Amino acid sequence: MKLTLSVIKADIGGYVGHSHMHPRLMEVASETLDGAKASGLLVDFKVLHCGDDLELIMTHTKGEEDPDIHKLSWDTFLRCTEVAKEMKLYGAGQDLLADAFSGNVKGMGPGVAEMEFEERKSEPVIIFMADKTSPGAWNKPLFRMFADPFCTAGLVIDPSMHGGFRFDVLDVIDNKRIELSCPEEMYDLLVFLGASSRYMVRGVYRKSDGEVAAKASVQRLNIMAGRYVGKDDPVLIVRSQSGFPAVGEVLEPFSFPHLVEGWMRGSHNGPFMPVSFKDANPTRFDGPPRVIAAGFQLCGGMLVGPVDMFDDPSFDYARQKALEIAEYMRRHGPFEPHRLGLEEMEYTTLPSVMEKLKGRFESLD
Ligand code: 13P
Ligand code: 13P
Ligand code: MG
Ligand code: MG
Repeated sequence: MKLTLSVIKADIGGYVGHSHMHPRLMEVASETLDGAKASGLLVDFKVLHCGDDLELIMTHTKGEEDPDIHKLSWDTFLRCTEVAKEMKLYGAGQDLLADAFSGNVKGMGPGVAEMEFEERKSEPVIIFMADKTSPGAWNKPLFRMFADPFCTAGLVIDPSMHGGFRFDVLDVIDNKRIELSCPEEMYDLLVFLGASSRYMVRGVYRKSDGEVAAKASVQRLNIMAGRYVGKDDPVLIVRSQSGFPAVGEVLEPFSFPHLVEGWMRGSHNGPFMPVSFKDANPTRFDGPPRVIAAGFQLCGGMLVGPVDMFDDPSFDYARQKALEIAEYMRRHGPFEPHRLGLEEMEYTTLPSVMEKLKGRFESLD
């Protein structure tokens, strides 16, 4: 029997500001999904949050992009938005861009990562959820997990992974995709992955048999809405062990807090800090950007877990490093590279300042 794992998320209101999730919203989401589980639509679910983002983790047998599952998520976000509005939480309904559901939440604001697969004899999965960043934040960790032998020993020593993995890469500006195969096209792949505000990994597949290994949410709220509506805080599903990277190989890339975009007003670069669930409440300058990892063993579609994977002192060094980098970046104030380049900023005063000063620019030609 094929199982589908759907992770669908939205910011439906922050508490306080953009820092945290009000527990009442998580209760309302759980009540709603409980009803869907009782009716048989869902096999199982878990509700988590990362900062101000509500994360619906669901298992079912209806396949990817199923209208009933997407409608359930949309309705859940709407119900939570109602409660957020009653409490006057910040930015209630922030990520819900459409007025009416049209069959699929993609393009309507929520972030979506889904994969369908045959559950293995033992099926460990890690779900990463981030706040104050964008889906480009997964490029570097995904490359490290599935293509870098200095991270993933299995690429060298495990016969079932030795053939390598295929990366499905999206160009979010031209709305095109390309598949590139590692290790043989590694240098071509890195040309794109390094430009992580434009090219984003959508999925990773094992080359020997085409099995899905990872899926990421790649929605870009700012482009979809054509105006600032909040950063597109992403999620990522990774399968692990037995022909996929070991759990430790999946987590290892996060021992380095690389710079990602999305801090403060969606307009600054900052270090990607791996934290436990309880520390996923960004406050310093609305950050720094955060990532949590929820580990599950699937059992007939039941989500056995979550285990809070970054709740481990072995990530203390990465957190300390992230704090040092945060301090260093903050000292730049409104200067690049802390502030994003002009074309990447979520909002800017440039047009109005230009308009005001246009008569004072003197041509030097
Ligand atoms: P165990 O021997 O603890 O099962 O670990 C296997 C392993 O090599 C994990 O990386
Ligand atoms: P969210 O995208 O998490 O709502 O954050 C908005 C922001 O830029 C806060 O500074
Ligand atoms: Mg918010
Ligand atoms: Mg957020």
